[in-house]
Order: sequence, then structure tokens, then C-alpha cells
Amino acid sequence: MTEAIRFEDKVVIVTGAGGGLGRAHALAFARHGARVVVNDLGGSKAGEGASGTAAQQVVDEIVQAGGTAVANTDSVTDGEKIVQQAMDTFGRVDVVVNNAGILRDKTFHKMDDADWDLVYRVHVEGAYKVTRAAWTHLREQAYGRVIFTASTSGIYGNFGQSNYGMAKLGLYGLTRTLALEGRKQNILINAIAPTGGTRMTEGLIPPQVFEQLKPELVSPLVVYLASAQCQDTGGLYEVGGGWIGKVRWERSLGVGFDPRAGFEAEDVAAQWSRIGDFTDAAHPADNIEALREMMANLQKYAG
Ligand code: NAI
Repeated sequence: MTEAIRFEDKVVIVTGAGGGLGRAHALAFARHGARVVVNDLGGSKAGEGASGTAAQQVVDEIVQAGGTAVANTDSVTDGEKIVQQAMDTFGRVDVVVNNAGILRDKTFHKMDDADWDLVYRVHVEGAYKVTRAAWTHLREQAYGRVIFTASTSGIYGNFGQSNYGMAKLGLYGLTRTLALEGRKQNILINAIAPTGGTRMTEGLIPPQVFEQLKPELVSPLVVYLASAQCQDTGGLYEVGGGWIGKVRWERSLGVGFDPRAGFEAEDVAAQWSRIGDFTDAAHPADNIEALREMMANLQKYAG
């Protein structure tokens, strides 16, 4: 039988946990024995306003079920305050689930600086601030798990979501580098691209499907990625509706030109179908693997 996943000695911060996916994560962590910091600014879907009730309601639910949690109503852009509350209340932090998010959808020609900046600030700067403040503690205790919430809108693109897509795929870039920097101290970092029926997706997903896409169906992956049992890092997982899959980069075998002789746009055009041919494609896992073909091409034509 698989070993039970427990968090009795662990403190978990879930941002944006006053509703939607974050609430489901917070409840799941509490069920698995974690002490939970339930953070939520309590603003609108578009990131306006604030209210303390969302976070407190989830804390009340956890406590009523016999769990341990504390509410925090700071914005993730003041991430150090959220981490400070974890330290003040529970004396440690082990897991950060960066989940808080907003939407300011607009086609690019209507995008203004305010919509661009606010989406960047909540998703990217917010995740940075919380994780950066926790990082010092995670390194000191040589243990940590961090989860970033990306999106298929970042991975694949989505009409009207240039700001959101930029921010969401940015978090995967952050995941890849922090995975390298954290590994030695047993700090493992993964990203999820979830789909769930929440206020964010209400009206965008057909009602019958919306009902079935329960936020609770995303949380088991998040709890597993945050556990000591999980030893993987740097991953990106699509999850929703009871289904989970892993995403990776794929690159064509490519075409090498003679770098000494030089080549022109016409040579690129002549090889275009081969450049984009994914037969026997490679899946570089790191920078060294990624640069291997280029280095081989240099060597092939070297003096
Ligand atoms: P939601 O709107 O129900 O939850 C987001 C929560 O974040 C809200 O409770 C909100 O008050 C909170 N929040 C917003 N700005 C904050 C700030 N500055 N500081 C602290 N809390 C803040 O939406 P949902 O769907 O639960 O989204 C959770 C995460 O999942 C988001 O990052 C979202 O972008 C991402 N996501 C959701 C998808 C879905 O299908 N629901 C699809 C792809 C990604």
C-alpha cells in the first residue's frame, strides 16, 4: 500500500486561498495534517478592492473540521508579511503554494499599462515576493517545496490574455531556474497549469462542464508535489477534471548550416520544412543538453 502523505510537522502557505482552487488546496492540506496560512486579499476577479472575510471563512472551515489554520489578508505583493505571519504564528514555513491570481483580459490592441502591470504584479511579482521571503527559511532548514500556478493560456496562448499568458509562462521560467538553485538544499519546485470551475472561469466554461471541473480535483496533485515523498523538481503538470499530465519542451532535430561559409535567408527557406520537422524530436532537459546540437554543428565545420 502507498504510504500516507502527512504534514504534521509542516507549515504550508497557500496564497489566494479564500476561494476557488486555493481554498480547495488549503482544505486538502489541513486534512493531511498541515498547519495552514490561508492568505487572501479578498478583492474582485479583476484585482480591485479587499476584504478579510474570504480568508477567515476558509480558516473557520478548517478549524471546524479539526484542523489548524490562520488567516492572512495581505496582498502577495507584500509577500514578506505573509511569510512573517507564518513565522510568528507557527514558527516555520515548509511549503509555499503560489496560487493568488487575477484576470484583466483584453485584446492586445486595447491593452493599457495598468492592465499589463497589475497582472504582472499579482502573478509574477507576488509569487516572487512570497517565495523570496520564504526562500531564506527553506535554505536554512534545507527543506522546502514550492508550487507555482501557471496556465495553459501561458503554455499555448489564449485570445485576449497576452498579459496573463506572459505572467503565467514567466512562472514556469522561474520554476526551471529555482529547481536548479534549490536542489542542493532539498527545495523542490514545480508548476501546475490547472483547470477548475471557479469565479475566474465562470461564464467561460459551459455550465455542465463547469460543474464537473471541481477545484478539489486539482488539489491532490498540489498536495503530492508539496510532500516529502515527491522527489521531482522543475516539472510542469496540466491538471483538472480528475486528469493529470506532464508537459515538456520538444525540439526538432534541426538543421546545421556551415557557420564559416555563412548562409542566407534563402538557405533557411530551403530547409524550412526540415527545421520544423518533429520526427525523432529531442526533449532537452537542461541548458547543456539544449546547446549540444549547436556545439556539434560548430565542431562539424571547425578547421
Ligand atoms: P479565484 O479568483 O477563485 O481565486 C484567486 C484568489 O486569489 C481569489 O480568492 C483572490 O481574492 C486572490 N487574490 C487575488 N489577488 C490577490 C493578491 N494580490 N493577494 C492575495 N490574494 C489575491 O480563481 P481560481 O480559478 O481559483 O485561480 C487560482 C489560480 O489558478 C490563479 O493563479 C489562476 O490564474 C490559476 N488558474 C486557474 C484556472 C482555472 O481554470 N480556474 C486556469 C489556469 C490558471
